[in-house]
Amino acid sequence: MRALVAVKAGEPTDVLRLESRPVPTPKTGQALIRVKATPIHASDLHVLRGRYGFSPTFPAVGGGLECVGRVAALGPDTEAPTVGERVVVAAVPAVPGPPVAGTWQEYLVADTLRLLPVPDHLSDSSACQLAVNPLTALLLVTRELDVQPGEWLLQTAAGSTVGRLVIQLSRHLGIRTINVVRRRAAVEEIKALGGDEVICTEDEDLVQRVAETAGPDGVLKAADCVAGPVGAQVSQALAPSGELVVYGALSTHRKTDPAALTIPLQARSVIYETKRIRGFWLNRWFATASPEIALHALARVRGLVADEVLSIPRGRPFPLEHFIEAVALAEAPAHGTKPLFVIEDGRDEDGK
Ligand SMILES: NC(=O)c1ccc[n+]([C@@H]2O[C@H](COP(=O)([O-])OP(=O)(O)OC[C@H]3O[C@@H](n4cnc5c(N)ncnc54)[C@H](OP(=O)(O)O)[C@@H]3O)[C@@H](O)[C@H]2O)c1
Repeated sequence: MRALVAVKAGEPTDVLRLESRPVPTPKTGQALIRVKATPIHASDLHVLRGRYGFSPTFPAVGGGLECVGRVAALGPDTEAPTVGERVVVAAVPAVPGPPVAGTWQEYLVADTLRLLPVPDHLSDSSACQLAVNPLTALLLVTRELDVQPGEWLLQTAAGSTVGRLVIQLSRHLGIRTINVVRRRAAVEEIKALGGDEVICTEDEDLVQRVAETAGPDGVLKAADCVAGPVGAQVSQALAPSGELVVYGALSTHRKTDPAALTIPLQARSVIYETKRIRGFWLNRWFATASPEIALHALARVRGLVADEVLSIPRGRPFPLEHFIEAVALAEAPAHGTKPLFVIEDGRDEDGK
């Protein structure tokens, strides 16, 4: 079988190789999965550059935190799920550390506790993106920030996949959103998606616009995945006692020096205005949640997507051998659609 392997940490296009490897054999409690589709996330590229929250032992199957595939075989004494079933694999490690297996390969072995069956009407594009971004959006809004109906939620990179899902979920729950984007061209799109207010940092002052929008009560809850000066402005824009959850650092995207991954906070905000700023990392959540809680949350997300409350932007398919183009798209400004590795096998391709 073919696998996209990173020989060492470095620039993804320099270190990735398409290699031939033996198909792995599942043990008891495991299933062999024939991968159908798997996305390229910013975090996959962070792992390859050696700037993520864990580092695998290289050479390693490069990136790949989630996928959809079909069960091809089961380990000894392993009954569920059934062979042929289409399942989502959450390869996000259950403890902070290297994942059991990356998903950028034709077959992988996974613990059956990590498998979530998906309904037929869910496309491969949506199913393969279920376990990371929609789950992050759900946990940020309902658990980390516990935003209540009628409350304001301020978020950055509103045009990202997570940002779009946060908008849709917020509308569903009666939460009002203030959405920060960096391009004027994105503003109308975010409004059309249901964003209540949109601030464009290209030509607007974030702190001033939040004050104008929210009035004297201000905004108490925010989620940021840009960090750097934009993340700092978000913390400044919050009302006293407000809470900011930082879950990404897009403004430092290609930087690998840990000292460059910063948010220049104002001491005044933290001390006198007692604002709380903390992080969220899905891997750590998976590490602390029991498999039952994690699967329950994933099933909730699956239901929201299957019921079309959440719509995951359709990804753009690439074969594994076109990884250079796929990585370039993942990092291109205004890339819109997310690149997916789609593995055709001519046998169970159902056109989804
Ligand atoms: N902590 C966690 O557990 C967790 C889980 C999931 C995702 N994340 C993080 O969430 C973030 C979004 O992921 P995604 O997959 O949803 O992203 P995505 O779909 O690839 O979209 C990226 C978005 O970020 C915007 N962007 C990129 N660089 C920016 C910058 N310097 N300043 C402002 N906006 C910028 C882009 O705007 P343009 O359209 O203008 O290019 C685009 O809208 C990433 O940082 C990812 O690592 C974290």
